[in-house]
Amino acid sequence: MELCLELLYTRRSIRSFTGEKIPDEEINKILKAAFQAPSAGNEQPWHFIVVKSKEKLEELSNAHPYGKMLLNAGAAIAVCCDPKLSKYPYPMWIQDCSAATQNILLAARVLGIGSCWLGVFPIESRMKSLAKVLGVPEGIIVFSLVALGYPQSQDEFFEAPERFKEDRIHYEKW
Ligand SMILES: Cc1cc2nc3c(=O)[nH]c(=O)nc-3n(C[C@H](O)[C@H](O)[C@H](O)COP(=O)(O)O)c2cc1C
Repeated sequence: MELCLELLYTRRSIRSFTGEKIPDEEINKILKAAFQAPSAGNEQPWHFIVVKSKEKLEELSNAHPYGKMLLNAGAAIAVCCDPKLSKYPYPMWIQDCSAATQNILLAARVLGIGSCWLGVFPIESRMKSLAKVLGVPEGIIVFSLVALGYPQSQDEFFEAPERFKEDRIHYEKW
């Protein structure tokens, strides 16, 4: 269990990849983790688009202003949302899709795969350009994009800056 915490503490955004492909079984383990995320009312309002081809990764890299790392990624997963799958009159799905995205990052870390969350929602221009590249139907929201790949430097991967801030913790009340 302590090892689980160690993996969690040492998750980093990785932006330099070797270009090596990620085996399907590893992708499936990552997807399983995404599907296991909590969601409001257990609505699970997500869809995931797995991109593996070099051509599509290049298209994605051009469609996102900070997506250059996708050129050397082994794969990418777009987390999408179908708001119609959520019963709530307010957008709880934002939190659902955030949890799914985080699970992808953590599962990748466990498997020794680097990852970087690329912010998409709520920036309309990114949502539109990625929806076009990914052929996403009307009404489906591209929420986030995660670049995945084997890290070029293991050092960067295991670097764990301390972020624990005593003054941001409040006990019993603020
Ligand atoms: C909502 C969200 C959007 C992000 N968007 C980008 C992005 O567009 N490009 C990028 O390189 N990193 C992006 N990141 C990664 C952050 O830059 C990174 O998590 C932060 O600098 C902390 O570093 P760490 O992930 O290594 O702990 C995003 C992270 C989150 C949570």
